[in-house]
Amino acid sequence: LIHQAAAAVTANTRWVDDFPTPGVRFADLTPVFADGPAFSSIITALSSVAPDAELVAGIDARGFLLGGGIARDLGVGVLAVRKAGKLPPPVQTCEYTLEYGTAAIEIPGDSKILHGRRVLIVDDVLATGGTLGATVELLERAGADIVGVTVVTEIEALGGRARLADYPLTSLVRI
Ligand code: PRP
Ligand code: MG
Repeated sequence: LIHQAAAAVTANTRWVDDFPTPGVRFADLTPVFADGPAFSSIITALSSVAPDAELVAGIDARGFLLGGGIARDLGVGVLAVRKAGKLPPPVQTCEYTLEYGTAAIEIPGDSKILHGRRVLIVDDVLATGGTLGATVELLERAGADIVGVTVVTEIEALGGRARLADYPLTSLVRI
């Protein structure tokens, strides 16, 4: 099934040169997620990496699509890790460096949601690891136990995996 999901990703990913800034090659998974069998096989494959998770944290924005599906598969809740400025206070914030520019992400300041809970983190793409690294830092600061980090596509040349060396990381497709 993981093989089937990976093949669907590879066949349907749209690569866009020089977006969002010159020199960046953007992996657009829109056609992958819009394909029913592909999306379903991806959700099943990603759900299998951390069957003991108690909460799924999906990263803004395409991680939300994946996170909701995985959480439903596992029968657990879902948390939106948001770009800064979207959540009402109190929030916890972490700034990070992107392949292009800087950004900040936030989670709710209410520690009851995360403290002592086994959390699976999901996003669409791992590039430099800035986004997932910041997410891991935020969730650990809130007392979460990170039982898995998972993405659809890993861009190996950008070295994100090294920044997540302390966590179980799985990707369906490595480019
Ligand atoms: C893209 C992608 C990942 C991140 C990966 O998101 O969706 O979240 O970059 O890059 P990194 O490993 O170097 O951090 P982006 O920040 O472009 O925003 P979006 O998800 O809102 O489109
Ligand atoms: Mg993103």
